Amino acid sequence: MTVPEKILTLNNGKKMPIFGLGTWQSGPGEVGNAIKEAIKAGYRHIDGALIYGNEKEIGVSLQEIFKSGEVKREDLFLTSKLWNNFHRPELVLESFNQTLKDLQVEYVDLYMMHWPVAQAPLEEQYNAVFENIPIIDTWREMEKIYKSGKAKAIGVCNFPIHLLEDLISKAEIIPAVNQVELHPYLPQQKLVDFCHQHNIQVTAYSPLGTRTNPSVLNDSVITEVAKKYNKSPAQVVLSWNVQRGVIVIPKSTHKARLLENMSFFTLAQEDMDKINKITTRARACYPERFKVLNIFTDFADN
Ligand code: A2P
Repeated sequence: MTVPEKILTLNNGKKMPIFGLGTWQSGPGEVGNAIKEAIKAGYRHIDGALIYGNEKEIGVSLQEIFKSGEVKREDLFLTSKLWNNFHRPELVLESFNQTLKDLQVEYVDLYMMHWPVAQAPLEEQYNAVFENIPIIDTWREMEKIYKSGKAKAIGVCNFPIHLLEDLISKAEIIPAVNQVELHPYLPQQKLVDFCHQHNIQVTAYSPLGTRTNPSVLNDSVITEVAKKYNKSPAQVVLSWNVQRGVIVIPKSTHKARLLENMSFFTLAQEDMDKINKITTRARACYPERFKVLNIFTDFADN
C-alpha cells in the first residue's frame, strides 16, 4: 500500500486535505503564530473547536493571512466543533454562529459534533450534568446548517460503531467524517474499517499519541522503524495513520515540528504489520466523567 493522495474526497464530493494542524491546547499568543507558520509551510487544513477557546485568535490570524494575499479563504479547509453544552436544538445554530463570528469567516468546511454527549447549558465543561437529548435531534440542527451552505460538510467526533449505526439509520445526511483518537497504541481498526465501508472519512486526533503514558513516540518498535528509514518517530506514526487512509491533525506550535509533521513516507508492509502489533490499549480515549453513560465501551476493542 502506498501513501494515498494528500487530498481525500468526502461523501458529498468535497475535498479534504489528509493532514492538518491541530489547535487543541494551542494557547493564547501561540495559536495565531502557529497558523501563520503552518500556512507558510504548506498546511491548508486547520482543525479547531469552540471549546479550545482560541477561535478568536485564529480568526485574527486568518484575517491577516487573507490580507497578505498568501492564501484565499477557499484555499483553506477549516473545521470547528459543537461543544456538549449546546446540544439543545435552539442552541446549536447560536453556537455555530459564534464560531463563524470568532473565526471571521462566512462558512466552515466541516462542522462536527464534538461528542455524542449532551451536557446542561452553561455548566462548567467538566461538570458531568448530562441531558437526555437524542443525538438525532442535535444532528437535525446540524443538517439545517449544512443545507444553509455555511458548513460545507458535517461530521461527528468520538462516535463508536453502535452510535454511528444508529445515526446512519436516522439521518438524512450521513456524517462525512468521524474524528477519534487514533495512534499505534489505540488503532481502533474495526472502527476505522466500519467508517471507510460506510464512506465516512476518519480523522485521528492526538495522532502522535503523546497523551498516552508512556508515549508512543518512545516505543522501541517505533524508534527502530524510524532509524531504518532515517525518519523521526513522529513521522513514522503519522505516516502509519495516513497509509491506512486516516487523516491526521498533529498539533504543534513550533516551526521545526510543523515541518517535520507534514513529511510523509511509505512504510513497507512488514513495518506496518510490526506497528499494528504494538497496541497496548494504554488508555480509554474518553473522559472519566463520561464513563457513567456507558456508551464508549467498544472504543478500545480493536
Ligand atoms: P508542541 O506544540 O510544543 O510542538 P497530538 O497532536 O498528537 O496531541 O500531539 C501534540 C503534542 O505533541 C504537543 O505537546 C506537541 O508539542 C507535541 N509534538 C508535536 N509535534 C511533535 C513532534 N514532531 N515530535 C514530538 N512532539 C511533538
